[in-house]
Amino acid sequence: MILVTGGLGYIGSHTIIELIKNNYEVLVVDNLSNSKREVIDKLKKITGKEIPLYISDLCDKKALRQIFQDNKIDSVIHFAGFKAVGESVEKPLMYYRNNIDSTLTLLEVMEEFNCFNMIFSSSATVYGSPKSLPIKEDFPLSTTNPYGSTKLFIEQILKDLYVSNNKFNITILRYFNPIGADESGLLGEDPRGIPNNLMPYIVKVATGELETLSIFGDDYDTCDGTGVRDYIHVTDLARGHVLSLKNQHGLRIYNLGTGHGTSVLELVNTFEKVNNVKINKKIAPRRAGDIAECFASCDKAFKELGFKAEKTIEDMCRDSYNYVKNNK
Ligand code: NAD
Ligand code: UFG
Repeated sequence: MILVTGGLGYIGSHTIIELIKNNYEVLVVDNLSNSKREVIDKLKKITGKEIPLYISDLCDKKALRQIFQDNKIDSVIHFAGFKAVGESVEKPLMYYRNNIDSTLTLLEVMEEFNCFNMIFSSSATVYGSPKSLPIKEDFPLSTTNPYGSTKLFIEQILKDLYVSNNKFNITILRYFNPIGADESGLLGEDPRGIPNNLMPYIVKVATGELETLSIFGDDYDTCDGTGVRDYIHVTDLARGHVLSLKNQHGLRIYNLGTGHGTSVLELVNTFEKVNNVKINKKIAPRRAGDIAECFASCDKAFKELGFKAEKTIEDMCRDSYNYVKNNK
């Protein structure tokens, strides 16, 4: 049985589909702080499986113990956490409390119940401003905001835990920029309010919910002056978790990206083309804290896990829009 924490969220829900395709049995813990209960019904519709759901906070140790007591949990995929960079600057204590406390509580309970297999959602944000590209897993680590620091601290906690007890198998996955949605159109990402991230913003301009996309800077040293990122389809990212689960041994760290950079303008142009819509846009000043360019070296994940992203930027643009259109 695989426990998926934060399994009603964007990446967790897509990973559950891939887990079930690979015949894993899954149960979910989520406190609905950034998701909706109806996701479980959509997962049932897509997979044909009833998935046990515990609406519970991971920081609640008593409740978590009961979940481990009632189920034979072999591995945990730990997605639960807060993830908004800007909010983390305004509310650092809330981010440290939730992300770190939930992880510590989870690890303590896992150890208590002899469950030693864990996959953790880290982020390319732990590379700070990379010294060169593509980014490799052994590059120096640093962060520029409390959200990123929670990821870095949790990585350190996991490394220390492994040293203390090498019965643990721990895989740290550093995601680059996940976008896209399940091709059913039932699951995807549609944040409330004004999105911080590029793809959700583009989609809201496409649907008319927001008027104009601000492109943060066109004077970077990149192919067209706009910021470059390594966008990866969430379904590819989800497959990366299944491959990690099948190859758990000791402490491992992998980038999950495509290895290709795409600029803001390239992404917007592709979105317009595949969806046959016009995106109003204007050039705005650079956003504080942004780096010019970021993309992964994916060699390690390919060599050790056999992971290779398959979906294109076109797929990502089509599926992101499809989900929001279907769910209006
Ligand atoms: P999400 O917000 O959609 O999903 C996280 C889920 O965790 C939500 O359903 C939320 O309700 C739940 N949750 C939060 N705190 C909890 C707690 N204390 N107890 C129980 N449930 C709790 O986020 P996502 O995009 O699916 O991201 C999943 C993980 O991947 C996060 O850890 C995030 O930091 C990391 N990550 C995301 C991105 C990205 O761009 N989406 C990039 C890199 C890393
Ligand atoms: N951008 C715009 N306009 C917008 C939003 C974004 O031009 O309205 C630009 C940014 O300047 C950047 C690119 O689009 O060049 C991508 O920005 P995102 O906010 O979508 O993604 P980031 O790479 O800045 O950050 C994301 C997550 C972080 C995570 C990081 C690395 O938000 O949590 O990827 O994984 F740490």
